[in-house]
Amino acid sequence: MWPDDKPLFFRISATDWLEDGGWTPDDTVRFAGELHTHGVDLLDVSTGGNASGVRIPTGPGYQVPFAARVKAETRMPVAAVGLITEAEQAAKIVANGEADAVLLGRELLRNPSWARHAARQLGGAVRVPEQYHRS
Ligand SMILES: Cc1cc2nc3c(=O)[nH]c(=O)nc-3n(C[C@H](O)[C@H](O)[C@H](O)COP(=O)(O)O)c2cc1C
Repeated sequence: MWPDDKPLFFRISATDWLEDGGWTPDDTVRFAGELHTHGVDLLDVSTGGNASGVRIPTGPGYQVPFAARVKAETRMPVAAVGLITEAEQAAKIVANGEADAVLLGRELLRNPSWARHAARQLGGAVRVPEQYHRS
C-alpha cells in the first residue's frame, strides 16, 4: 500500500501518434480522471515511441499541449516533459498554466547542474553544498 503522506506520480504516453487507432489524447483525458479518483497526485504526460511508421513532430516542448489538455479538462495536476531545455521556457510553461510542473530528462544528463543554473537565471535563491563555497 502506498503511504498517504508520499506523492504518487503516474507516467502516461498520451498518444501513440497513430493516425488511426492506438491510444489517443481522448483516452488519456478519460483515464486521467480515473487516476485522479484513485489517488494519483500528478500525471507525467509523455508520448509513445513504440509504434513504427509514425511521424512524431519533435521540437521544443512538443509534448506540452498534451499535458495542457489534461490540465484543462480534468482536475489532475500535470507535469510536462519533452525537449524542455531552457529556464525561461520551463518557467513559461508553468506561468502560462499549461502544466503544474516540468520534468527534464536528457538535458539533465547533459547538464546535471541545470536546476541550479536555472534558479540563478530566474532570480531564485540557490542553496549549494558547503563544498561548493570554495569554488
Ligand atoms: C528515443 C526515445 C523514446 C521514447 N519513448 C517513449 C515512450 O514510448 N513513451 C513515453 O511515455 N515516453 C517516451 N519517451 C520520452 C521520454 O521518456 C521522456 O519523457 C523524455 O525523454 C523527457 O524529455 P527530455 O529527455 O527531452 O527532457 C522517449 C524518449 C526518447 C528520447
